[in-house]
Amino acid sequence: MHAVERNVRADQSMPGSNDDDLLAKLNVKMFSYNELATATHNFNYQSVLGEGSFGPVFKGELEATGQLVAVKVLNPEGLQGNEEFMMEVVMLSRLHHPNLIKLIGCCTEEEHRLLVYEFMPLGSLNERLHDFDHTTPEMAPLDWNTRMEIAHSVAKAFNYLHNEARPPVVHRDLKPDNILLGEGFHPKVSDFGIAMFGPSDDDSRIFTDSVMGVRAYSAPEFSNTGEVTTKSDVYSFGVVLMELITGLRALDVHREKHYLADWVHYKLTNCELDIVSLADPRMNGQFPEDIFRKAINVGLNCTEDDPKLRPSMKDVVRTMDNFKYERRVVVAPDQGRGESSGESTEAHLPLSNFISPETKLAATLWGRKGQISPLNTNPYKKA
Ligand SMILES: Nc1ncnc2c1ncn2[C@@H]1O[C@H](COP(=O)(O)OP(=O)(O)OP(=O)(O)O)[C@@H](O)[C@H]1O
Ligand SMILES: [Mg+2]
Repeated sequence: MHAVERNVRADQSMPGSNDDDLLAKLNVKMFSYNELATATHNFNYQSVLGEGSFGPVFKGELEATGQLVAVKVLNPEGLQGNEEFMMEVVMLSRLHHPNLIKLIGCCTEEEHRLLVYEFMPLGSLNERLHDFDHTTPEMAPLDWNTRMEIAHSVAKAFNYLHNEARPPVVHRDLKPDNILLGEGFHPKVSDFGIAMFGPSDDDSRIFTDSVMGVRAYSAPEFSNTGEVTTKSDVYSFGVVLMELITGLRALDVHREKHYLADWVHYKLTNCELDIVSLADPRMNGQFPEDIFRKAINVGLNCTEDDPKLRPSMKDVVRTMDNFKYERRVVVAPDQGRGESSGESTEAHLPLSNFISPETKLAATLWGRKGQISPLNTNPYKKA
């Protein structure tokens, strides 16, 4: 195994290269500043959708086509700069998947740097999960199926980035703020500003001296040494999955263990608790218990300290495909019977190969609480 010790981001930022030439080669649609000012009613504060480390994001409507868009405006005083801007454009011009945000174009007029995306009407997963006003029925908390559909789709997007994109891409900033929701809660992964091209074979390792992203979602080896592999994204995915399942925030300084992944591992390893007690109470116990246990197991596997023990995103997708099959049987037994293929529900569970001794112990503890067959369980049993 050889180590490639370098700051890949610096290499990738293409310092000195002519950004306009590159943008022309990428065939990116270029907007004038005026077009985007018109689209956003002159960047009116009433059109602001949110603000991140890049700068404010405005809702807009393109005059020429009537298309709704989100316009992200680089704040020159902000934490991100031209390097992140170019990386976002480079990545999103070459990556295409139903669960990745679409970049419609950009603007590089004079000192301005603006990014134009498709508009995602339901905002970010973070808002839906944590910040949302749940007082009206249409703003109800996310139900179990929606949470699992979101996680499954995000897993597919990451399987594409890691295993289908050439060279593979490590996103490095997976968190609920960067999962945007369209109609029907169709999720799309956004924000490739700090993404990197990952090692294309298992023998090379990449280190970066710019440890970015949010600590609560960062794999330990990345936070400690700056090592970047696709397994760093797998860790972040595990944290997001735990957040979806528990409804808890990834970071809470008032919690026994501040980071959610540490807390869930700690609770399930050291405390004799019923795994179902980890469920977000806002789901009112409306979930199939057996799939719930498996989903937590995926979260635990993905957040193993040792990256080698974590599954690949391909393994995660296959396991979650199986959830879908099982869920059909569990949730609607009458309708589901006709659809059953007779396929073993345990057919795709490669994750068990990666389970550490601690996780095995936790799994044994849950088993003692009674593992329930998907075929004879009331999926909506109250917790
Ligand atoms: N395409 C979009 N459609 C609809 N809303 C969007 C879109 N892109 C961003 N937003 C909104 O703007 C907010 C800010 O997004 P942005 O990506 O700039 O920051 P962030 O993800 O919250 O933080 P960070 O800078 O750490 O990534 C999002 O939380 C979301 O509410
Ligand atoms: Mg974002």
